[in-house]
Amino acid sequence: MITGFRLSAAIMVAADLGLADQLADGPRTVADLAEAVSADADTLNRLLRALATVGVYAEQPDGSYANTELGEGLRSDVPSSMRPLARTLTDPALWAAYGHLGHSVRTGENAFRAVNGVDVWTHRLAKPEHNEIFNDNMTALTSLVVDAVASAYDFSGLSTLVDVGGGQGSLLEAILDRNPELHGIVFDQAGVVAQAPTPGASESVASRWSTASGSFFDEVPRADAHILKSILHDWEDDECIEILRTCRKSLNDDGVVLVVETVIGRLGHEVDAAFSDINMLVMPGGRERSEEEFAALFEAAGLHLTNVVHTKSRMAVLEAKG
Ligand SMILES: C[S@@+](CC[C@H](N)C(=O)[O-])C[C@H]1O[C@@H](n2cnc3c(N)ncnc32)[C@H](O)[C@@H]1O
Repeated sequence: MITGFRLSAAIMVAADLGLADQLADGPRTVADLAEAVSADADTLNRLLRALATVGVYAEQPDGSYANTELGEGLRSDVPSSMRPLARTLTDPALWAAYGHLGHSVRTGENAFRAVNGVDVWTHRLAKPEHNEIFNDNMTALTSLVVDAVASAYDFSGLSTLVDVGGGQGSLLEAILDRNPELHGIVFDQAGVVAQAPTPGASESVASRWSTASGSFFDEVPRADAHILKSILHDWEDDECIEILRTCRKSLNDDGVVLVVETVIGRLGHEVDAAFSDINMLVMPGGRERSEEEFAALFEAAGLHLTNVVHTKSRMAVLEAKG
């Protein structure tokens, strides 16, 4: 556990070099790989040897290396690729923030801002390469749960839905795909928001999709429903209440706010939730919450928690009404 950072760093470099992509068609020698990814052959061999001991790659009898099942997950072209997640570690500001976890625990302050001088969102917008990796990572992680979320809640009866902080819009796309009457707007910061659904989306989804940008602290588009996935956990309570109030002001009569988050206290998801909570403390300066804590946020924003749907994934859908 104590030396886990060594493994994280090794996987980060392997993912950044794109080694799993290079091995997609089968085993290759270290010399061949080193040339392909512009690395030092001897050092690359040490990295591959280390990662082979933990099952990310497999050393072949002739000394070449192959992807294992784990290694395949780091390919760019597999569904829900883990490569963007591993590449988020290439940002030195992330390591600096984690080195400051003790500061957070002693003071309660967000480590990222304390050590880097700006919040994660400002930092990413100023560093397009890290912003792109983060957004790709959100899309990949969200793709793991979209089916579970889109099928767990009954969206029929709604005519407009805004994916608030929807990034590249993968959740909205999955929901529109299942609900042919629904029109959707993906809303996010101007430097982030997807201008269109993915090229693989159907014509029907594309025709019911639009984009809007701005800040969810100011105004969000009017709709029957606002869905916020992995948004509130990025923020402290006061900021969450502001975001929820902004949503409430732009809801049509009888509208709903749908919050999609990991819920603290759900059996079987304890480790995920507790370490995601630490990540929220260190990186954006937010927290994971229990059902009761979400209910209190809704009340403070003039909404009431009306239903909690636990999906087949680690995410729950918390429904609130005015
Ligand atoms: C953790 S990501 C979640 C993205 C997406 N909902 C998902 O689950 O894949 C948080 C999102 O909030 C967006 N965001 C941060 N501050 C914002 C603001 N003030 N207004 C609108 N969006 C914001 C970020 O750009 C990012 O896309």
